[in-house]
Amino acid sequence: RKMVMTRRGALIVLEGCDKAGKSTQAKMMLDSVTKTGKGIRLMNFPDRTTTIGGIIDQYLRKQIELKDEAVHLLFSANRWELVPEIKATLARGESIVVDRYAYSGIAFSGAKGMDLEWCRAPDVGLPKPDAVIYLNLDKKIASQRGDYGQERYENIEFQEKVKDIFWKLKDDSYWHVIEASRPIEVVHQDCYKIVLETIQRKEHQPIELLWK
Ligand code: TMP
Ligand code: MG
Repeated sequence: RKMVMTRRGALIVLEGCDKAGKSTQAKMMLDSVTKTGKGIRLMNFPDRTTTIGGIIDQYLRKQIELKDEAVHLLFSANRWELVPEIKATLARGESIVVDRYAYSGIAFSGAKGMDLEWCRAPDVGLPKPDAVIYLNLDKKIASQRGDYGQERYENIEFQEKVKDIFWKLKDDSYWHVIEASRPIEVVHQDCYKIVLETIQRKEHQPIELLWK
């Protein structure tokens, strides 16, 4: 009797500062990978549709105030509450492209001056991404891409601090830095190659745990 080797999906994270094009690239990836017949879906953090996500949403829209530590833990809890869904999706062979993950959690809280190790602790043990695609955008070009909105953290000085911390978190063993100032389609082709290669390379590998 032939043994059936079930393939798992890959967990791909898109990170980068605001205006880098994460959401655009995530949607393009969904279309391209779907066309190949492989299963893939999008997720994003914060996921504002859950109860915890609703509190985060109010905080980001400046409707409520929360202590820095408390909101940091809510962002982490918002990831943990979706871990069962992430695991189940990967286990049935579907890949996931995630717009932001624990790295944003550390980078944005760290940019407020919070201790980076303290910030990392609650996310230790999350499913480890098979690849992180970091969309790198020069700050001059980011500012030309239009005004920031009204949400918390949406200003250039803060985003520069965020970028410095992303740079500290970068782990070349699974991070890919992509220059995001190039045309959207060119950026997409680079991201697409990474995603396809990662799906193939990881299909029979166990999911690792982040920072463990
Ligand atoms: P969004 O613009 O991708 O919806 O993200 C909302 C904001 O939340 C964005 O400024 C980044 C920030 N953020 C954190 O502060 N901590 C986190 O853990 C995550 C995922 C996002
Ligand atoms: Mg935003």
